[in-house]
Amino acid sequence: MKPLNQNVYNFNAGPSALPTAVLENAQQELTNFQSTGMSIMELSHRSKTYENVHNEAITRLKKLFSIPENYEVVFLQGGASLQFAMIPMNFLPKDTKAGYIMTGSWSEKAFKETTFFGEAYHVASSKEDQYRYIPEISASSFHESDAYIHLTSNNTIYGTQWKEFPETGQVPLIGDMSSDIMSKPIDVSKFDLIYAGAQKNLGPSGVTVAIIKKEFIEKANNDVPTMLDYQTHIKSNSLYNTPSTFGIYMLGEVLKWIELQGGLNAVAANNEEKAKLIYDAMDESNGFYVGHARKDSRSLMNITFRLQNDELEKKFLAEAVEEGFVGLNGHRSVGGCRASTYNAVPQEACLALSEFMKQFQQKNG
Ligand SMILES: Cc1ncc(COP(=O)(O)O)c(C=O)c1O
Repeated sequence: MKPLNQNVYNFNAGPSALPTAVLENAQQELTNFQSTGMSIMELSHRSKTYENVHNEAITRLKKLFSIPENYEVVFLQGGASLQFAMIPMNFLPKDTKAGYIMTGSWSEKAFKETTFFGEAYHVASSKEDQYRYIPEISASSFHESDAYIHLTSNNTIYGTQWKEFPETGQVPLIGDMSSDIMSKPIDVSKFDLIYAGAQKNLGPSGVTVAIIKKEFIEKANNDVPTMLDYQTHIKSNSLYNTPSTFGIYMLGEVLKWIELQGGLNAVAANNEEKAKLIYDAMDESNGFYVGHARKDSRSLMNITFRLQNDELEKKFLAEAVEEGFVGLNGHRSVGGCRASTYNAVPQEACLALSEFMKQFQQKNG
């Protein structure tokens, strides 16, 4: 069954599906937010009403993601892509190096930005195998003197995901969690900095979340332009300039929805079931559908696969569109097919896709 108020199954990679209940509620309070006589977008970001929304979103995020007391949460703009530059700008002093674990195009883009600020190197990479797997990391893979180690927790384009994060000891660990943040509980204390664009699991585009350990921020460079300095946003509670007020309101509403689902354990269990429906259709297809990721590295958020030839793949994607499946094309850089099954994608959509895959195989296999 398709969601009641929509006639499509949304498998977009980002921006992506938002919970229907959140959209309906936003629609209801759009023109008169909390009896103010105006929408949340028209309120001053310095007003009490907006400030409550803002602070509640931060509090909810801290609670739901079990963020320890010694961490700050900030809302930024510029997407995860600006974080690629802000991180070395703030945390890569000239006399050290940063280590990047290369697991796909987003790691490559993050790495490229370091070249403007200092020195960095590849801790490990799975590029030689088209980024099909998450590499093994040991203490000998990096140096104790490294400024930080950076990883991408879920590789949106190739469809791989870290199952367990590496131990980096005293070396600060930074994670780009843009495409799997809040899809499951994680141990935040393993990281010194986590960042994510909101537009997959947390809300609309336009808000970037950064979660930063206080001890780490104390080590940051001081000669950074004001808006690109994490301290600016920490000190002003993410209200130094005008934030994405509507985006932050929506993010708060998505967090309320996660609470209603039973929190991150419940969301994680649901995500596993959803992904299994599609992976099973692949694994039981006798090679009709071929997964891109190695089984031990499979993502529960982005399921990537190919059919036997381009012609069949085109037919599959065209028929999928006719059946109401949106966003199943692989990323433009790699082709193939990709089903993004973020938190808000309902189980029914994944079941419908797995059924469609089986029927298509029966007709074309
Ligand atoms: C893992 C990952 N990192 C970074 C980005 C870039 O995010 P943004 O478009 O918010 O800059 C994306 C976007 O899809 C992503 O999936």
